[in-house]
Amino acid sequence: MIDETMKIPQHVAIIMDGNGRWAKAHKVPRQLGHKEGCQTLEQTVEDAARLGIKYLTVYAFSTENWKRSEEEVSALMQLFRFYAKRLLGIAKTNNVRVRMIGERSRFAPDLVEAIGRLERETQQNTGLTFVIAVNYGSRDEMVRAGRRMLADAAEGRLKPEELTEQVFSDYLDTAGMPDPDLLIRTSGEERLSNFLLWQLAYTEFYFTDIYWPDFNKEELEKAIAYYNGRDRRFGGRNEA
Ligand code: IPE
Ligand code: IPE
Ligand code: MG
Repeated sequence: MIDETMKIPQHVAIIMDGNGRWAKAHKVPRQLGHKEGCQTLEQTVEDAARLGIKYLTVYAFSTENWKRSEEEVSALMQLFRFYAKRLLGIAKTNNVRVRMIGERSRFAPDLVEAIGRLERETQQNTGLTFVIAVNYGSRDEMVRAGRRMLADAAEGRLKPEELTEQVFSDYLDTAGMPDPDLLIRTSGEERLSNFLLWQLAYTEFYFTDIYWPDFNKEELEKAIAYYNGRDRRFGGRNEA
């Protein structure tokens, strides 16, 4: 479906939704849906790297997801532990640089360490940058950024007139990254659920009814084909 005339988006963001409904449809426990979802993610990282996408940002766990049952939250934490180890191998094989966004101090110390190690040991890789949003919420990110701006202002490092959109961006967890060109949300929901509110200002949105565990390369290519059919404007005028 993808041919050489197609424009590959530089940065693709994905809200991986529908693991629970996938599990329900298959009459298996929710946790199994999350496990399948992790496998889909592994494959998607490889597909994205091969397609030449430069940045892939995925929403894995939101600041609101702590409200789920203790059983589900701890199952998800166990999966993160397991995949953090696996991901190191995958990243090394595929020349992928891994980066986490979100507030990590709420995680268990061994998980914080595993995340740090993943980032450190893949820092020099030059292929795909794979960004995982864990304990991420856009409002939380902006509030944390705001606090740092205020602290810098109080110490004279930042003056009100120096605060520009660029400087503001540099205080966010996504500092240094281009904004997403394409956002994909699976499972039929059409909302942002507190994901990258600032960064998605001009992003094209693609929604599919497919549950995340059923997402695959063909679906990714469909989203890219849709993106190619859009006429991106950035506030300018539509060309006839
Ligand atoms: C997405 O699947 C994974 C996480 C939010 C961790 P869900 O668990 O939200 O699945 P549904 O939306 O209940 O089907
Ligand atoms: C968004 O999905 C968060 C992730 C995919 C990690 P949710 O399933 O948590 O979002 P809501 O509750 O449907 O908005
Ligand atoms: Mg959901």
